[in-house]
Amino acid sequence: MALTKLFAVFLICLFSFYSKTAKSQYCGCSPILCCSQKGYCGIDDDYCGSGCRSGPCRKSKEPLDRIVTQEFFDKIISQANNSCAGKRFYTRDSFINAANTFPNFTSFVTRREIATLFAHFTHETKHFCYIEEVGSSGDYCDKNNREYPCALGKNYYGRGPFQLTWNYNYGACGRILGVDLLSQPEFVTSNPNVSFGTALWFWMNSVRPVLSQGFGATIRAINVMECNGENSGAVNARIRYYRDYCGQLGVESGANITC
Ligand SMILES: *[C@@H]1O[C@H](CO)[C@@H](O)[C@H](O)[C@H]1NC(C)=O
Ligand SMILES: *[C@@H]1O[C@H](CO)[C@@H](O)[C@H](O)[C@H]1NC(C)=O
Ligand SMILES: *[C@@H]1O[C@H](CO)[C@@H](O)[C@H](O)[C@H]1NC(C)=O
Repeated sequence: MALTKLFAVFLICLFSFYSKTAKSQYCGCSPILCCSQKGYCGIDDDYCGSGCRSGPCRKSKEPLDRIVTQEFFDKIISQANNSCAGKRFYTRDSFINAANTFPNFTSFVTRREIATLFAHFTHETKHFCYIEEVGSSGDYCDKNNREYPCALGKNYYGRGPFQLTWNYNYGACGRILGVDLLSQPEFVTSNPNVSFGTALWFWMNSVRPVLSQGFGATIRAINVMECNGENSGAVNARIRYYRDYCGQLGVESGANITC
């Protein structure tokens, strides 16, 4: 009799052990937490590092500053004319500083993503020559936008590597970067951290979501008109830079390169 009772207790213990394990392996973590290899929710490296199953896993195998070396950056900017404004403005360190303010960028970045990003930087800025749109006209103020009202006398033409344009983009981007770009849009051309920050803001919102579809999809995300046959020269230039940087960084360029 006593033995049967003991056996029942043993069974209950065994059952609760298994159900606990099963439950922890289910891992219905909140979206801001990582599900660890063993199925527990948490946020530090034990959960988000290697073996992480879901959530904001830190998948990057390599720190960003080992991918974007000074040599890699200099090889690009050295091709810009000495009279370029960008030559006295953009630096490799300012790119790294800006990237570090986007933890989800640095956590997942790969060599192929850097080849992609810098191919577009190179094309958009002409090897980091330009820091703002050339020959802009108009104030790019959408007066109907109540959330991000234009400041008196300020102009929201294209600035930064990806030409942040319009008050509502300056407003939304500034909010993420923690700088008031509506009242001081010229921060984008006076502080290189902010300048690269605007480019990464655009990248995270509009380009990274299509990154896995191949280089062509990233061209479309940046300039849909080029892909509609309006500027095959520009498309080809972007692809040429991309292949070059993939080669320099030692990665395959992948499928679906054109758009
Ligand atoms: C650099 O710019 C100057 C002034 O615009 C121009 O005269 C010169 O030819 C340019 N040099 C190169 C290598 O493009
Ligand atoms: C971070 O990036 C990964 C991969 O691109 C994505 O799945 C995840 O939702 C992102 N997390 C946040 C908080 O944006
Ligand atoms: C850029 O960011 C770095 C790191 O946060 C900082 O030390 C540096 O002063 C910043 N540069 C400017 C011009 O704000």
